[in-house]
Amino acid sequence: AQAEIGLIGLGVMGSNLALNIAEKGNKIAVFNRTVEATRKFYAEAGDLQGQIVPCETIEEFVAAIRPPRPIIIMIKAGDPVDQQMELLKPYLEKNDIMIDAGNANFRDTMRRFDNLKDSGLTFIGMGVSGGEEGARHGPSIMVGGTEDSWKRVEKVLTSIAAKYNDDPCVAWLGENGAGHFVKTIHNGIEYADMQMIAEIYGILRDGLKMSATEISEVFGTWNKGRLNSYLIEITEKVLKAADPITGGPIVDLILDKAGQKGTGKWSAIEAQNMGVPATGIEAAVAARSISSMKEEREAAEKVLGLPDGELKIADKAAFLKDLESALLASKIGAYAQGFAVMSAASKEFGWNLPMPTIARIWRAGCIIRSQFLDEITTAFTKDPDVANLIVTPAFATMVKETDGALRRVVSAAVLAGLPVPALASALGYFDSYRRGRGTANVIQAQRDFFGAHGFDRVDGKAAHHGPWGSGLNA
Ligand code: 6PG
Repeated sequence: AQAEIGLIGLGVMGSNLALNIAEKGNKIAVFNRTVEATRKFYAEAGDLQGQIVPCETIEEFVAAIRPPRPIIIMIKAGDPVDQQMELLKPYLEKNDIMIDAGNANFRDTMRRFDNLKDSGLTFIGMGVSGGEEGARHGPSIMVGGTEDSWKRVEKVLTSIAAKYNDDPCVAWLGENGAGHFVKTIHNGIEYADMQMIAEIYGILRDGLKMSATEISEVFGTWNKGRLNSYLIEITEKVLKAADPITGGPIVDLILDKAGQKGTGKWSAIEAQNMGVPATGIEAAVAARSISSMKEEREAAEKVLGLPDGELKIADKAAFLKDLESALLASKIGAYAQGFAVMSAASKEFGWNLPMPTIARIWRAGCIIRSQFLDEITTAFTKDPDVANLIVTPAFATMVKETDGALRRVVSAAVLAGLPVPALASALGYFDSYRRGRGTANVIQAQRDFFGAHGFDRVDGKAAHHGPWGSGLNA
């Protein structure tokens, strides 16, 4: 029998995805630019060899797959994907489907999709989350493309996706760039979630002077409560791990410079493009940028010194409870923002993104998987068109229960000079979003004063310019 699907690119993610596909009973053809990688992959596939067709030429590879041929391309995002597609195209036939499973910018995905429009070929942009382990044993999969192309791959993808209870974490989310857009926002939320955890860690380390091991225990406890999630779980583990050379906590030896490959930044850029506040994601991206300026920061510490405030905590147990609630509150803010960005993009790009489904397929497999996403699924299922997650009854209650703690934590950190840009952004977001009468009347007056931009009045009357004095377009 022919292979049900093909995969190009036997790096770690590609190999793991291919093994996962084979293991779930799907025959798969594989190809890699260098033949050695293909041979090695096949040699190490053990029991799964019967399900794998290793191919050394593109001709052989294409011929091995049942038409219309779904072909997963799992290589470095960017130009290599375009080059690979060009190489593949001459061998393909009508309705064959090239599937980019990397972390592509959805704008590239839209372009690739459009470029294939008249060729008879089609394209799927597929977000895959869950890292190496996820790819091997069950990732969360976000699919964008035509509905027909989705139908061709639905069975295979459903078989390999993570399951939440029995519910597979894969869905068709819309045309062209929908899948990669949703993956990008997933990563934006991931950045915010990680940054907020890092800020809380900073308060514990620098404010409460706790050791990595002690902090690990705190996260371990939280992982049993409402914060239960993969990121909290790995934070507990990361803080507990010992360095093989010194025996001390490895985390204390890791340079505080964070890398980034683009998805967080794209989330922030697209949010700004659409005029949707995503302050948690922006704060997280900016924090990574500041982190990378290690030498500058060290020089600045010499010039400016550290603020001499101290964390003044009367009751440590109560403060730890506050930290837990503050993290939950700020997390609600970041997720609410991420979903708001997706809802704006859905309109902007005509995708009809299904919010309850997105929350549902993020409950397992992906990096931001958590208990919490089940609660988001329930909230959006009840009210799929709500303007913002934080005004759904369940989340409004949670915000009201936790924002006091966030306020106390941010205040204490600010007074002690501990940086909490993402936590503070959540508080600023709640406080601005919930205030019916804001302060932009002053902005409007200033704009009118210097630029005659005009303004609307609260009483609906028609004066569109202010009485700013002579020569000022009064
Ligand atoms: C996932 C991760 C994964 C990854 C990104 C983000 O969902 O499995 O988001 O895609 O770790 O590459 O990486 P950066 O932090 O390097 O931007």
